[in-house]
Amino acid sequence: MLILGIESSCDDTAVALVDCSPEGCFVVRESAVSQIDLHKKYGGVVPELAGRAHAEKIVPLIEEVLKNQPRPDVIAVTAGPGLITGLIVGVEAARTLSMVWNVPIVAVNHIWGHSHSVEIQTDRDPDFHRDDNTVTTIEYPALALIVSGGHTELILMNSANEYKKIGATRDDAAGECFDKVAKLLELEYPGGPKISELAKTGRTDAIDFPRPMLKDDNLEFSFSGLKTAALYWLRDNKLAGTVIASDRRERGNLWPTVMGLLRSFTPRNDKPSVNDFCASFEQAIVDVLVGKTLKAAKLYNPKTIILGGGVAANEKLRETLAHESQSIGHELLIPNLKYCMDNAAMIAVAGYYQAQKKEFTDWRILNADPNWEIE
Ligand code: KG4
Ligand code: ZN
Repeated sequence: MLILGIESSCDDTAVALVDCSPEGCFVVRESAVSQIDLHKKYGGVVPELAGRAHAEKIVPLIEEVLKNQPRPDVIAVTAGPGLITGLIVGVEAARTLSMVWNVPIVAVNHIWGHSHSVEIQTDRDPDFHRDDNTVTTIEYPALALIVSGGHTELILMNSANEYKKIGATRDDAAGECFDKVAKLLELEYPGGPKISELAKTGRTDAIDFPRPMLKDDNLEFSFSGLKTAALYWLRDNKLAGTVIASDRRERGNLWPTVMGLLRSFTPRNDKPSVNDFCASFEQAIVDVLVGKTLKAAKLYNPKTIILGGGVAANEKLRETLAHESQSIGHELLIPNLKYCMDNAAMIAVAGYYQAQKKEFTDWRILNADPNWEIE
């Protein structure tokens, strides 16, 4: 089954043609445009700008991916959750193609996509190979921890197209917390990768940040208190954070300068450096994510644990969760780095499983739903 995947729920416009069969899902061709450069001067995604940029790119990307390719059997499009300004662009493109080609549409939940991103295979793509060259199969029931800028959710999958939300954040998503605290340090958006880069040379026990809700007897998350704790710490401690702020104001310079300063910065009196701050903060987030996932694994005893979403690119999280999962007898599946981020191949794969059950939505009634929650 040849599936055209379309993703435009946040700040990536992505299109992929994926060939799925019981042997696996292979990317035939894919193309994407990131809007990070557009949004970074605002410190976050600006919905109006995002919508316009998606609208500019969607048709050229579809043309590029489908050039000299046969017409797909199914169109899989992210219908929610996400920014309405972005979602409608992908959904309207899918509706138009469905009407013109008479090809059915599967409306895909963005979180379903992240949950299936470990299955994307690229062996037929000469430019890209899986790190380990293995075929990844999810065994059910599976437990997925999906962590990104917009989501922190624990999903239980009883089969490839049955999803149940068993835990979620009550306020900020983990990636959002990374990005907001990075903003306090005047690091460029998205700040998660920059914090984790700085954290590599820091002390994880330098600052005792809270681990919100870790000890609570539930699978809920909350990260706004951790963000506030980071804010208060920076307010009360005049360390490298202040150096960054004044330097940024004086020179209007961005990441390269910050990196230069941090490398040359030597903490006095053994007080925490920015690197220590980042390492301690990252450790607090990782402890909570891993702790809650293990709690869920003990409760539901899944055959596979999956990590997905942009924050799954975080090395400390990947390593810690892999190690801890193994210690309680569970294998962890992690997508290739490229497919941790938003992409259209994962939407096509999730769409494949819905299409097998003929879960199609007529183009006449398909709608984008920015608040589409998994129940
Ligand atoms: O899934 P994604 O591409 O888009 C959303 O659906 O949000 O995730 C982007 C998020 C951002 O918050 C970014 O800071 C975070 O993933 N992120 C990271 C890392 N790489 C990306 N957070 C922590 N460490 C990283 N290495
Ligand atoms: Zn995402």
